[in-house]
Amino acid sequence: MSGPDLVVVGAGLFGLTVARRCADDLGLHVLVVDRRHHVGGNAWSAPEPSTGIEVHRYGAHLFHTSNERVWEYVNRFTAFTRYEHRVWARHRGEMFPLPFSLATVNQFFRTALDPAQARALVAGQAAEVRGVPDNLEDKAVSLIGRPLYEAFVRGYTAKQWQTDPRELPPEVITRLPVRWTYDTRYFDDTYQGLPVDGYAAWFARMVDHPRIEVRLGTDFLDPAQPVSRASAVGQVPVVFTGPLDRYFDDVHGPLSWRTLDLEQEVLPVGDHQGTSVVNHVDLDVPWTRVLEFRHFHPERRYPDDATVIVRERSRWAGRDDEPYYPVNGTGDRERLLAYRALAREERGVLFGGRLGTYQYLDMHMAIGSALTAVDNVLAPRLVRSAAV
Ligand code: FAD
Ligand code: NA
Repeated sequence: MSGPDLVVVGAGLFGLTVARRCADDLGLHVLVVDRRHHVGGNAWSAPEPSTGIEVHRYGAHLFHTSNERVWEYVNRFTAFTRYEHRVWARHRGEMFPLPFSLATVNQFFRTALDPAQARALVAGQAAEVRGVPDNLEDKAVSLIGRPLYEAFVRGYTAKQWQTDPRELPPEVITRLPVRWTYDTRYFDDTYQGLPVDGYAAWFARMVDHPRIEVRLGTDFLDPAQPVSRASAVGQVPVVFTGPLDRYFDDVHGPLSWRTLDLEQEVLPVGDHQGTSVVNHVDLDVPWTRVLEFRHFHPERRYPDDATVIVRERSRWAGRDDEPYYPVNGTGDRERLLAYRALAREERGVLFGGRLGTYQYLDMHMAIGSALTAVDNVLAPRLVRSAAV
């Protein structure tokens, strides 16, 4: 490709969707650069070499959506299994289904209440909070009552944020849904599943196109690279899905993120915990979750004498950590507005995806917003410039 018509920075689901649609529908030659050695961004996975068990390298990724357009789009590149995600919480030596459902409530209170009775019980417990909650603890208690809060939310939240929930702002939780049924599925979306032959195969098919070229190991912000901010911006349209603050050299200070430490272990047993995800909600266990990857693909033939687990811990991200969840603190919100103003002024660059917009996006949201960005921003502009 001598001169591309569009440079996409970041081969995550936002960047891949933009690249593929611009190549397919607008006939553009697209150059995709990523500083990692693989495409797919945080949703990428690879088999653990000794067992062949597919491991999601940047945390467990479950595909789910109720968006028909997104579902139709992703099915062009991969089929999905019928996997339905369920999560169990371990609390004081007992296992409870999450998110909160009638099953959780009745098990926890050792009752057999019907939906109306259970609602009334929890509403009565939640009524202890009067006025507008000014911290996370009061907010959570106002939603689900103190007993469920103390068992399932307090310790887990304290571990996630390394902060006492009474010191956290109430906006950290907007809702704590309780399902008043025995539906214990984690997602209630119309569609859910995992890519039949893995995430990497899905992403490889997205970039398998004569008008798409991929360059890995290329940091767009490094001026020594052949394609970089210094050489490309202003010369060719750019879609940037890396961190918004870094693009502007942190001039307004860094935006804060949480990261995860993922500690992987291969155990010499066929089954460690009987399910894919267990949340450890008590404070005396240092990790927040244990993932066991074989259970994401019960349809596959994996070894019966070895299994791969990952223990997950959460903490504030330092400068060299992978940014996972935007913190969105008070200072962040001011900085974000300042960066958004710079982004609007930056000619020829569209900022997108979770890092480029400083937003937590599920995969279907990243894909959905990329489809919309092509329709509303890229197609009109790039068609116009071609016509000139
Ligand atoms: P990313 O996937 O982060 O891709 C951005 C890419 O840009 C990266 O590959 C990065 O290397 C590259 N990049 C950054 N800076 C530069 C630079 N300077 N030069 C070149 N390249 C650069 N979603 C779900 O739907 N279900 C789930 O179960 C789920 N679980 C998740 C679990 C965790 C722990 C996390 C953090 C996220 C989870 N998500 C899940 C969300 C999912 O990861 C995102 O929706 C998806 O990653 C968004 O894609 P993206 O393209 O915006 O960003
Ligand atoms: Na997840």
